[in-house]
Amino acid sequence: MRAWEIQGSFGLDHLRLTDRPEPRPGPGQLTVRLTAASINYRDLLMVRGIYNPRQKLPLVPCSDGVGVVVELGPGVRRFAVGDRVSPIFSQSWLEGPPDRRAERTTLGGPLDGVMQEYLVVHEDSAVAVPEHLSDDEAACLPCAGVTAWRTVVTEGRVTAGDTVLTLGTGGVSLLAMQLARLQGARVIITSSSDDKLTRASELGAHHTINYRQVERWGKQAARIAGDRGVDLVVEVGGAGTLDESLRAVRVGGTVALIGVLAGARSDVALTRILMHSVRVQGIFVGNRADFEALNRALSLHTDVRPIVDRVFDFATLPKALRYLASGQHFGKVVVRAP
Ligand SMILES: NC(=O)c1ccc[n+]([C@@H]2O[C@H](COP(=O)([O-])OP(=O)(O)OC[C@H]3O[C@@H](n4cnc5c(N)ncnc54)[C@H](OP(=O)(O)O)[C@@H]3O)[C@@H](O)[C@H]2O)c1
Repeated sequence: MRAWEIQGSFGLDHLRLTDRPEPRPGPGQLTVRLTAASINYRDLLMVRGIYNPRQKLPLVPCSDGVGVVVELGPGVRRFAVGDRVSPIFSQSWLEGPPDRRAERTTLGGPLDGVMQEYLVVHEDSAVAVPEHLSDDEAACLPCAGVTAWRTVVTEGRVTAGDTVLTLGTGGVSLLAMQLARLQGARVIITSSSDDKLTRASELGAHHTINYRQVERWGKQAARIAGDRGVDLVVEVGGAGTLDESLRAVRVGGTVALIGVLAGARSDVALTRILMHSVRVQGIFVGNRADFEALNRALSLHTDVRPIVDRVFDFATLPKALRYLASGQHFGKVVVRAP
């Protein structure tokens, strides 16, 4: 079967399309023929050797995929041949809080990921895909969708009337915006691009701020929220954005720390956190229970669909990753299986 591998050393130039033996399922396992995958910023960092410089190579990259069950190992009960499924991001994390094992069993590093024709997973480590979603749309859920769900619903506990601030128009942020709206919240979204902000408004964002033009975007967001401040910040920037996020959030509100696009080491004003009783909540994607809850919500609200920006052929994965790196995308970048 065909598979992409990071071979020898890290970097986009070290991605190789190779042939691997087709895997066969053992007891309790399924073979999934992958049909579509989506790429996350994490996949780019993994290929570049930034996410985990000690990652063993070769590695099949990328965590998020969807496919069809083509073979069952002995004793499988949860799925049948022909079912459409997605492998979960952390293969061992089914429910409850994460632990060290959850961090070590993630697809696309350290475990081989979805950029291959077939993937064998344990039946417990996959979920059924909502029927109304296309393969391209469903491929956006395992990391980006589940992260958005855990941020807004599981940890954020967003409820009708809340105000949510999402940073940027990448995969996680747009899904978080859509889910916050689903919960009945008002959404403020930021972007570096007025065009992207227009598209975000068309998708339902109530207020938009261009973070390149408005230096104190956090303060502006707090003002929009009626000076009370926002209830939840979907924080993907990290060091470069945290101070403004802390200006935006209300007393007793939550900053969900998801990404470090604008730096990983910070010199934040800690007094803001303690004086205002702010909850800074680290997010590590989510577990199978989060994924299943997300799928139940999407199956009921079929108008909420992941935003697929562009679709690339399997053979052009490096091009897809370079496109993501360019920051031109709005929502998700998808790669079709061979
Ligand atoms: N902790 C977790 O579980 C988890 C899960 C998924 C992702 N992540 C992390 O979350 C981050 C976003 O991931 P993603 O896959 O959604 O990435 P993505 O699709 O590549 O989105 C990146 C977007 O973020 C915006 N952005 C970049 N720098 C920014 C800044 N300084 N201030 C505000 N917005 C900025 C840009 O939006 P505009 O073009 O609109 O300006 C950019 O398009 C990454 O750091 C990723 O590693 C973490």
